Amino acid sequence: MLSYQHAYHAGSFADVLKHVTLCLICDYMGQKESPLFYLETHAGRGNYDLTSPMAQKTMEYKTGAGLFWKNKEKLPAVFNSWMEVIHKYNSDTLQLYPGSPLFALHRLREQDRFNFCELHPGEFYFLKNLNNQHKSVQYLFKDGIAHMNAALPPKEKRGLIFIDPSYELKQEYQLIPDKIMQSYKKFATGVYCLWYPIINQRENQAFIKNLRTNHVENQLNIEFLLDPQPQTGMIGTGLWIFNPPHILQEQMDEVLATLRLYCHFWQA
Ligand SMILES: C[S@@+](CC[C@H](N)C(=O)[O-])C[C@H]1O[C@@H](n2cnc3c(N)ncnc32)[C@H](O)[C@@H]1O
Repeated sequence: MLSYQHAYHAGSFADVLKHVTLCLICDYMGQKESPLFYLETHAGRGNYDLTSPMAQKTMEYKTGAGLFWKNKEKLPAVFNSWMEVIHKYNSDTLQLYPGSPLFALHRLREQDRFNFCELHPGEFYFLKNLNNQHKSVQYLFKDGIAHMNAALPPKEKRGLIFIDPSYELKQEYQLIPDKIMQSYKKFATGVYCLWYPIINQRENQAFIKNLRTNHVENQLNIEFLLDPQPQTGMIGTGLWIFNPPHILQEQMDEVLATLRLYCHFWQA
């Protein structure tokens, strides 16, 4: 039984990096008129109330999206499309933080097709009731990793696969990169974006080493480390992207510089 609830972490600095990157990739891929397939293996509930007891318990959004909301007039243009989606759900104060499904639904187009997988019954209940205007959306109460293998290659021949696991099971650090490589072999032109937490350097090194032993030509690894580093918990966050848009590296340099400016370790 899964117990992870993203509501405790919604809008954290890790979500900022993850969702800004997702919006940038969607915007780039959406420039080409032909339809694409968007697959999300670990969708969560799709939208988070920051006044809920869960968000208020950790207040992680205060050192993430909350800071960016406060400074929204000063942010560089690479944050615009991410902030545009957040604006759709908020007016003066930041109360709702969209999850990755909403960022993708807003940044992609009517001609695109969406699959969102979620295995937690409580999270799935909210996910399947997400309000959206798109016709081609399927919410699937399924193991997203198994579905990734079954759904690829897509009929559209263009695809973005967003993989945001909760890593509740230690073996996922080994299993998920292996499964991505299997899917990549079936659909080598897809864009794959994997998120991971950086918890302690040694554990992270083994995971990264495993990811590096692939033969994918075009890939990008982005990491952000908190400064100063907390003694426990997450000290940073990373993304591993196969077939990234060619402009992404430059855009991410600006995103990371801005994160370094705003996001510092903070003890509640
Ligand atoms: C980090 S959260 C997702 C957050 C979401 N992507 C976002 O950014 O808004 C991970 C989610 O994956 C779900 N989950 C865990 N294992 C899964 C699996 N094998 N297949 C589908 N969902 C899974 C968990 O219940 C949890 O809701």
